[in-house]
Amino acid sequence: MEIIRISDIKNYEGKEVEIKGWLYNKRSSGSIKFLIIRDGTGFIQATLLKSEIKEELFNKIDTINYESSIKITGLVREEKRASSGYEILIKNVEIISMAEENYPISLKEHGVGFLMDYRHLWLRSPRQNAILRIRAEIIKSIRNFLDQNGFILIDSPILTPAACEGTTTLFETDYFGEKAYLTQSGQLYNEASAMAFGKVYCFGPTFRAEKSKTRRHLMEFWMVEPEAAYVDLEENNKIQENIVTYVVKQVLENKKMELDLLERDSSKLEIIKVPFPRISYDEAIEILKKDGSKIEWGDDFGGEDETILSQKYEKPIFIHRYPIKCKAFYMKPDPQRPEVALCADLLAPEGYGEIIGGGQRIEDYNLLANQIKEHNLPRENYEWYLDLRRYGSVPHSGFGLGIERTIAWICGLDHVRETIPFPRMLNKIYP
Ligand code: 4AD
Ligand code: MG
Repeated sequence: MEIIRISDIKNYEGKEVEIKGWLYNKRSSGSIKFLIIRDGTGFIQATLLKSEIKEELFNKIDTINYESSIKITGLVREEKRASSGYEILIKNVEIISMAEENYPISLKEHGVGFLMDYRHLWLRSPRQNAILRIRAEIIKSIRNFLDQNGFILIDSPILTPAACEGTTTLFETDYFGEKAYLTQSGQLYNEASAMAFGKVYCFGPTFRAEKSKTRRHLMEFWMVEPEAAYVDLEENNKIQENIVTYVVKQVLENKKMELDLLERDSSKLEIIKVPFPRISYDEAIEILKKDGSKIEWGDDFGGEDETILSQKYEKPIFIHRYPIKCKAFYMKPDPQRPEVALCADLLAPEGYGEIIGGGQRIEDYNLLANQIKEHNLPRENYEWYLDLRRYGSVPHSGFGLGIERTIAWICGLDHVRETIPFPRMLNKIYP
């Protein structure tokens, strides 16, 4: 008998198969019992008819606790009413490990706070399963896009001696008596790699000790960071809109069932096509003021401002040329207007806000050395970074796309906490 995975069930109609999984749900009505079995690839209804199996087995079913691991054998048949289109007519059930009674997150409604304490079990639910499958698809498609477009994966370190994105959000650790920090971004190392390989990307976890408790913030999040030599701001934006369009297309093509399960309105994703609107920071300020915001030129956008802006468009929008003073030390000033930076953030529509931050980097040695000083950064830790401007400096650009915020948008979730298997949030590190 063939051991099959539920996701392949359609290939086995009329055949007897074996499935190894867990008991997700059960119900019975007199002479018929229904089990919902999950095996990680999907969920399937399995039916027992009293008239067709031994009484002992029929009665044993009632004693199996939720989430027990079980092996079933039975006949696959079409069942139009089932979500998969098939069901299994059970011949036998074998218990591998009987779960304890009172599964903590039973199928009734629970609050998110409670479920987060049982995140290790919550991952088994159809909804969490769908989100994390979409996560895997998004990551896969990002890598495919970059690999197929000449970017080479060059990893950046996690333990670093210096800050990339400002000194206020660093997680500090002891490195044999020296101070070290968990990386906020692989960008600075990426710039070294770009000067060695031309077009590169790093993809890994990044850390921000931000005391923010918003729907957009995690302490540990994943970021993909492409960086390329001889690329300017506009070319950098083009790479971003192409990658985002590709990722959305792949999810629509390959994860339709998961999007449906999440009740995501996919028409909102189908319209994601290049080009994305480009709006200057100056224009954005005007839009916000008209909307009643108290924001003034020179202020960075708050979460609320981003929400307002990104609700006004159906596609992601670039906001470009922010004031130099609200951005990181490495941002290149616009030669036409040195008070603004050659940078752009990409805001996802439907109020999701920033999913990408990027721009052109300072390539001039003196200007960069000066910025390091202005930002009160310890120069000795940045000597290697200054070397990149001493030896063959070129115009170059890059960006960082936050994976969890991108997933939240594509899945239509109201918070990033469900987009990562084990979220690290303010004052919460368990499980
Ligand atoms: O805008 P950020 O801070 O940019 C950088 O770190 C650059 N060094 C990237 C680069 O140019 N290579 O972060 C980039 C993205 C944000 O747009 C957001 O999507 C995500 O990372 N991000 C977070 N996601 C979840 N929780 C947080 N606390 C985040 N902080 C940033
Ligand atoms: Mg940013």
